[in-house]
Amino acid sequence: MSVHSEIKKITTETLRKMKFDKEKITMLTAYDFTTAKMVDAGGVDAILVGDSAANVMAGHETTLPITLDQMIYHTQCVVRGVSRALVVADLPFGTYQSNPEKALDSAVRMMKEGGAHAVKIEGGKEIEDSIQKIVNAGIPVMGHLGLTPQSIYQFGTYKVRAKEESEAEKLIADAQLLESLGCFALVLEKIPSVLAKKVSESINIPTIGIGAGADCDGQVLVYHDMVGMNQGFSPKFLRRYLDLYTEITGAIAQFVGDVKKVDFPNEKESY
Ligand code: KIV
Repeated sequence: MSVHSEIKKITTETLRKMKFDKEKITMLTAYDFTTAKMVDAGGVDAILVGDSAANVMAGHETTLPITLDQMIYHTQCVVRGVSRALVVADLPFGTYQSNPEKALDSAVRMMKEGGAHAVKIEGGKEIEDSIQKIVNAGIPVMGHLGLTPQSIYQFGTYKVRAKEESEAEKLIADAQLLESLGCFALVLEKIPSVLAKKVSESINIPTIGIGAGADCDGQVLVYHDMVGMNQGFSPKFLRRYLDLYTEITGAIAQFVGDVKKVDFPNEKESY
């Protein structure tokens, strides 16, 4: 009996081919089983277990506090809900920057315990050795350049990155370096569209943009933002497909009202 599922799964190679075929790639975040099932059923190509879980799931102001153990837990939950998409998990702040050995240990834990299909890490030249070590161990790595939220205290602001020539030039050089190190794809966050286009045309691995314009090879959004659960967050790049905050709080208010006036449960809803 074959242990391989009948469903055609997305691999890093599929994404590479999609760029070659000029077919746009879609990616959304998920941090739990139920959401991952819906996101997978909706047909996205990749699911990102983002360290944005620190914001969205835990209510932290930045992504810095989330731990590797917590990211592994979220990844395990997501992987159980997915049958088609490629599951990429963020390595959190402090688990790969200090030295390549630590980076590899973190990536191995994410693959072995979390069940991720690939890891994502933020940065370019500064973490070159860590990326190389992880790639050499056979672990697929997705890069992340531009606004890299783990460096927020260095940036001091969530504004668009690489508007100046020098930062734009470094970003292009970093993108080419990440490709040469063996990264299979690259997230470009909050950079000018013209620069994202230039980067996307200058490398053979797919770029996946968030706030980086339409010329990236794919697009990623945070699930809670695109379904409108997060009312307080309205950056220009975000398109809200639902207003779930209003829907859910409205449903909850109805439930509260129904219980208060002893309308719920009715006879049909009772044993
Ligand atoms: O953690 C995350 O959700 C991300 C995306 C914004 C790309 O890194």
